[in-house]
Amino acid sequence: MNYLEALSRRYSVKKFNHQLIPQETLHNILESGKLSASSLGLQPYKILVVESEEMKHKLIPAFYNPSQISTCSHLIVIISKKTIDENYIRGYFSHISEVRDIPIEKLDLFKNSISQHITQKTHDEIFNWAEKQSYIVLANLMYAAAIENIDTCPMEGFRQDLIEEILDINSETEKVTVTLALGYRSEEDHFQHMKKVRKPNEKLFKFI
Ligand SMILES: Cc1cc2nc3c(=O)[nH]c(=O)nc-3n(C[C@H](O)[C@H](O)[C@H](O)COP(=O)(O)O)c2cc1C
Repeated sequence: MNYLEALSRRYSVKKFNHQLIPQETLHNILESGKLSASSLGLQPYKILVVESEEMKHKLIPAFYNPSQISTCSHLIVIISKKTIDENYIRGYFSHISEVRDIPIEKLDLFKNSISQHITQKTHDEIFNWAEKQSYIVLANLMYAAAIENIDTCPMEGFRQDLIEEILDINSETEKVTVTLALGYRSEEDHFQHMKKVRKPNEKLFKFI
């Protein structure tokens, strides 16, 4: 499928048909999340994949509209980091050193500039910055799913405290930013027949 066809076919599903996504397809979609670009390459997030029926069921009360979570195949939960400490940055650089086979000392200059950049930011700035990175992951997952003919619904409509309690998130250091339900659209979901509402080009784009 051409990418514009895939994006036009995509819509935010309100009701899935309970069918499970093949593991290989899920794996490919998750790879697109893994390959996402992130500022400084720090990937200040975790990607939780809820596949157990029991956990999906437990999560139902955490969503304002339970129709997606109760019918989807999988739920992806993107968790942003609220803090980035020296230890995290050190871990990132030992990983670069290992993957690219570069002596760690050769990365010192880059490491110090990143540390300085991060430590200059306030707690809120770090957190806002980290959350933005999560949305790049979200977009890539949605895009890859559309290409794989898998339907999705991005969802921010959840009770923050409850979802974090159920998923055992440490809210001091992490936050559930956004979730993505995946599966196959139900024939009963009439939203699939609705025309897309988007700004006309002249209001959306400006060529200078
Ligand atoms: C970050 C984000 C959060 C969203 N949260 C919800 C949600 O909680 N529940 C829902 O039904 N749709 C949610 N949506 C879907 C939007 O309402 C939808 O993308 C928009 O109306 C455009 O429609 P379309 O995706 O069907 O083209 C969300 C979309 C995004 C990008």
